[in-house]
Amino acid sequence: MADKRISEMRTRHEILTELSYPPGELDRGYANRTLHVDLDRKIIEIRPVSEQMKALWVGGKGFDLWLMFREINSGTRWDSPENPICFSSGPLGGTASFPGSGKTLVTSISPLTNSIMDSNVGGYFGPYLKFAGFDALCIVGKADSETILCIDAVRNRITLETAPLESIDSHLVAEEFTEMYAGSEDDKRNIAVVSAGRAADHIRIGVLNFSFYDWRRRVARLKQAGRGGIGRVFRDKKLKALVIRNRDYTPAWRIVKSKVSDIYVPNVASMPDIDRASVRTTISRWNDDPEYVIEMMQDIQDRDRHISKAAIDEINAMTGVPKAELYHIATFYKAFSLAPRGEVMIQVCVGTACHVKGSELILDAFERELGIRRGETTDDGRFSLEAVACLGCCSLAPVVKIDEEVFGNAQAKAVADIIERKRG
Ligand code: FES
Repeated sequence: MADKRISEMRTRHEILTELSYPPGELDRGYANRTLHVDLDRKIIEIRPVSEQMKALWVGGKGFDLWLMFREINSGTRWDSPENPICFSSGPLGGTASFPGSGKTLVTSISPLTNSIMDSNVGGYFGPYLKFAGFDALCIVGKADSETILCIDAVRNRITLETAPLESIDSHLVAEEFTEMYAGSEDDKRNIAVVSAGRAADHIRIGVLNFSFYDWRRRVARLKQAGRGGIGRVFRDKKLKALVIRNRDYTPAWRIVKSKVSDIYVPNVASMPDIDRASVRTTISRWNDDPEYVIEMMQDIQDRDRHISKAAIDEINAMTGVPKAELYHIATFYKAFSLAPRGEVMIQVCVGTACHVKGSELILDAFERELGIRRGETTDDGRFSLEAVACLGCCSLAPVVKIDEEVFGNAQAKAVADIIERKRG
């Protein structure tokens, strides 16, 4: 995108109000502060989180509702100025240790039902909000003209700005603000933009789009908070975007020591040690960067056919990622195995289409022929057998995959020949 056009857009911003704030510390998942923005009065405030909030309104949805109930009354409709849009991330938000902990909860009175509606969405906005020092953001009022809220956690500064020139459509505005606020190409990962497209000016089912920068494709991609038409409320407030700039793309806090890491003791007996030097070389190829632990583990799995205890130890020592998190990854994704897989990997699809076409019979035939059960490896380490979900080529059902080769219309009677050929 032309730098000139971006800088011209930037120079046309008028700062309506700004707030410098002291950086906060996260304590057991809470920043203990919320951010309150009034677009009518052009006021930005930081408010404390009470112990009662944490005890009774736990989670992103809970905080959103607590904030909503403080703003609305029985007569509040979706387009009333006092109808807030609330964004929250729960106490686990941004930990990267549990599924769903990257989500942001968005809540408002819905234009579709005129009742409170929440929607959850991926992307990084909620975690970045927490890393910036806020458990939730509550926006009320309506702006006079196209306005953005910018939370800059690098400068510890929050601004409400007019933004007349930027696009409204989300796929464009996300690119523009990512370009405008990132300090460098690498820094683009630290930018998240919330917006709603032009359609949300006209229809009540408008979604909110949350951007995240895909550094592989080098584009800002979008996730949607689709439920309830909250994008319509966003545009009704004349909000063009919320922009947040994170301090660093490495999460600002992790579960370094927790109940999970204390009690999770994997079955080490099934994890033989391997050459630690080659593991260290692999980790170094990814610059010891905790952002790339999955890529490191993929390389190690491909080479060693498993993720060994030694590999977990080395990744932990060189990247600082807690072992509990590494074991979580290694056991969550089917692509990883803690025990060595065979030289030949046989996968029999037991998805619906393959099941109705008799894949269980094929699986039985492989078990008989190899003398192992599904999920096991032969004693000589030659073959591993797995039952897997849909392989994505159901028209060929039943399907068997051997290493990278896919066999369609597979038959149980052909299994003995296949094994014979593979044994060579
Ligand atoms: S169900 Fe087997 S390939 Fe889809």
